[in-house]
Amino acid sequence: MLDYGLQRLSQMIYDFCGLNYKERLASLKEKLSKRIMELGFSYEDYYMYIQRNPSEWEVLVELLTINETYFYREENQLHECCSVILPKLRTSFRNRPLRIWSAACSTGEEPYTLAMLIQETGRFSPGTVEIIGTDINKKVLQKAEKGWYHQSSFAFRRIPTNLLHKYFDVENEGYQIKPSIKRMVRFQQLNLLNQQQMALLGEVDVIFCRNVLIYFDQETIKTVIRSLYRKLAPGGYLFLGHAESITDMDLGFQKVDAAKTFYYRKEPDQDETIRCVSSR
Ligand SMILES: C[S@@+](CC[C@H](N)C(=O)[O-])C[C@H]1O[C@@H](n2cnc3c(N)ncnc32)[C@H](O)[C@@H]1O
Repeated sequence: MLDYGLQRLSQMIYDFCGLNYKERLASLKEKLSKRIMELGFSYEDYYMYIQRNPSEWEVLVELLTINETYFYREENQLHECCSVILPKLRTSFRNRPLRIWSAACSTGEEPYTLAMLIQETGRFSPGTVEIIGTDINKKVLQKAEKGWYHQSSFAFRRIPTNLLHKYFDVENEGYQIKPSIKRMVRFQQLNLLNQQQMALLGEVDVIFCRNVLIYFDQETIKTVIRSLYRKLAPGGYLFLGHAESITDMDLGFQKVDAAKTFYYRKEPDQDETIRCVSSR
């Protein structure tokens, strides 16, 4: 029998953060059943409860999000950003720090990998690159902020041994990210569907928004990509996960093909285009 409360919950979740359980009510039920039992509620009661207790969203988000990530994920994109794009941007913007945004960063492996590879280039002095890691899930951000990962965790499945030894201290039964890397990254909670939170984040030069659009439908993907476009400085770059092409969406980005990867670029402003053309 159709559970009206569950249906209303799925719509509310979709509107709040884009996660689409509207056609997967059985899966939603499975994820929420323990919490519902704990509270002794029906799904309809729970729907009403969240309206009155917005802090319950934190619990719900923890139950619904998939936070799998690891250091050095899709390395070709990471190298392209740190060794090709950032040095190029540095020459255009010498008088301000470059800003990289790891949107939906989960437990921090993505922004920390970027910080390590930026240090590896040896081309950026402290303070010349800022990395902001955001996620909707508060709990994963707390783990990211600590920067400690258990030695047997999924996080280390791809990291080259030299980077592990160089940028982590062995601590307890795991590895603690070194302070020099930690200093390059700051974390903040941000829901990609929340326009007020998005407005508080300043303009950025590069966005990594990988492996989150796969949980959204086409409408939500378009909404998110439009927001990311607005956040990018003219001539800025966007990296998505490999299964998350937006090439056929015509949302203002140009696709850039590079060695073993691709990414997107927002068109530069007129002045920069003129500078590029006249310097050829
Ligand atoms: C699979 S992880 C991807 C982590 C990392 N970007 C990577 O590629 O390894 C997806 C993350 O997206 C986050 N997420 C889901 N919906 C979100 C939303 N509306 N706003 C911000 N983050 C969201 C989840 O909490 C989760 O940590």
